[in-house]
Amino acid sequence: MTDMSVAPSVDLASLPSLRRYLDHLSGDERRSALGRLAALSPEDLLSFGASEPQLVEHDYRVDDITGTLPDGLAGTLYRNGPGRWQDHTGRPLHHLFDGDGMLSAFTIDGGADGAGVRYRNRYVRTRHFQGRTGVTHMGTAAPGGWRANIGRVPPNLANTGVVEHAGHLYALWEAGPPHEIDPDTLETIGVRRFGGELRWLGSFSAHPCFCPSSGAMFNFGVELVPRPHLRIYHTDHTGRLRHFRSTPLPYPAMVHDFALTERYLVFLVSPILPDAMAVLLGRAPIGDTLRYRPDKGSTFILVPRDGGRIRRIDHAAILQFHLSNAFDDGGDVVVDVITYSDPCLLERIARFQTSPLDDAPSVFTRFRITASGRVLTEPLSDNSCEFPRHHPAYEGRPHRYAYYNTRTRLCAFYDSVTKLDLVDRTERTYSSPEPGNSFCEPVFAPRLGATAEDDGWLLTVEYRAAQQTSRLVVLDAADPSRGPLATAQLTSHLPQGFHGSFVARRR
Ligand SMILES: [Fe+2]
Repeated sequence: MTDMSVAPSVDLASLPSLRRYLDHLSGDERRSALGRLAALSPEDLLSFGASEPQLVEHDYRVDDITGTLPDGLAGTLYRNGPGRWQDHTGRPLHHLFDGDGMLSAFTIDGGADGAGVRYRNRYVRTRHFQGRTGVTHMGTAAPGGWRANIGRVPPNLANTGVVEHAGHLYALWEAGPPHEIDPDTLETIGVRRFGGELRWLGSFSAHPCFCPSSGAMFNFGVELVPRPHLRIYHTDHTGRLRHFRSTPLPYPAMVHDFALTERYLVFLVSPILPDAMAVLLGRAPIGDTLRYRPDKGSTFILVPRDGGRIRRIDHAAILQFHLSNAFDDGGDVVVDVITYSDPCLLERIARFQTSPLDDAPSVFTRFRITASGRVLTEPLSDNSCEFPRHHPAYEGRPHRYAYYNTRTRLCAFYDSVTKLDLVDRTERTYSSPEPGNSFCEPVFAPRLGATAEDDGWLLTVEYRAAQQTSRLVVLDAADPSRGPLATAQLTSHLPQGFHGSFVARRR
């Protein structure tokens, strides 16, 4: 049984999945996990309810609305993220990235008449979800020792991002092809390889960039055969995907994100390397072998959109997952990145169910790559943050505002939403007043016909720890510190998740 003395002020019975996870651990791992939990404040432990699974698929009109849904806010906020960290046998899984993808859709109709929100959630019907891929995962080995794990690759969980392009909705997972989803019912239509253009693994990152002038979608995948490289794709505004370019990677790295300017695709390769031999021989799952190797350095790769010569700029190692926006500034390229200095981050997310993250703080950092290949570095905020977003019409262009999650009290989840003014370097933050509550990524929804960059709303989902439910929160993008303009309270909770997108209703 779980040792309840680790949390004398919080009843772990309210976190049944965490209890069950602890009961599955053995020996040193269990002692270590209990030690981490024992060090948490009651508020922090309460916040861990955001990782309890949501096993029920809902579809209902939300009755409990507070405030006023803004007139003009009409469309659907889609979100994606792990909904359960267990395989079809019920075995708990360790790694943050190992949960089955569960989509949510908040269909919002602001305005006086008929204003309201409809909520749906549905798991992506991946082969893994249907129990057809065995029991090998990114961060949890299959039972049976190395013989059961030799040569196994993690399954496509479709759990990372969700985007709409050319009338199609896709659930994304970076090491395999997208799953197409019905935008109304969230039913899974099937895996898309775009007529075979997505070759090899069919890798297609969860972070495509959209050109605001052409409507094109750029994306990439990391492919390891015949040698590690980025395979880059261009999808035109009609939805026709073609291979655009390929370029070698300096080493077999995890590349999660990229950014766009009007001239370039901007990649930043961080030395996060798996131990390929240990994985191939079945000694460890790939997520447990990922190591930060600063001796390998980082490389900025600038891929010209016009087909010109690819630029590669080597740099001291930079640890990061997410890029914010980028833009051309004369001959320079400017890109903003969420950087980390402590590689313990990788261990924390590999054991996320019992790990704080406050010993791996981040810095919102600007890199300026000059025409001559110098790289100038400037920290813009040391307020530990993640999940950066911006106005979609400013993708790849000079912009003034960035939005992201920050932490003011919690040690593992983000309890705040922040707007950063990149010109006067000020921040405006809204923090949940309720203990243990946390927010997911703030998605920017522009006001129709607006001219100001910050004229719109931030759409986020707040996990309410005390009652174990979630609610949609609408914030004023001009000043989120004003607090919610409106909320739509769900009858259940939504695990915190990764990424989302807003699709405005066509009028
Ligand atoms: Fe991401």
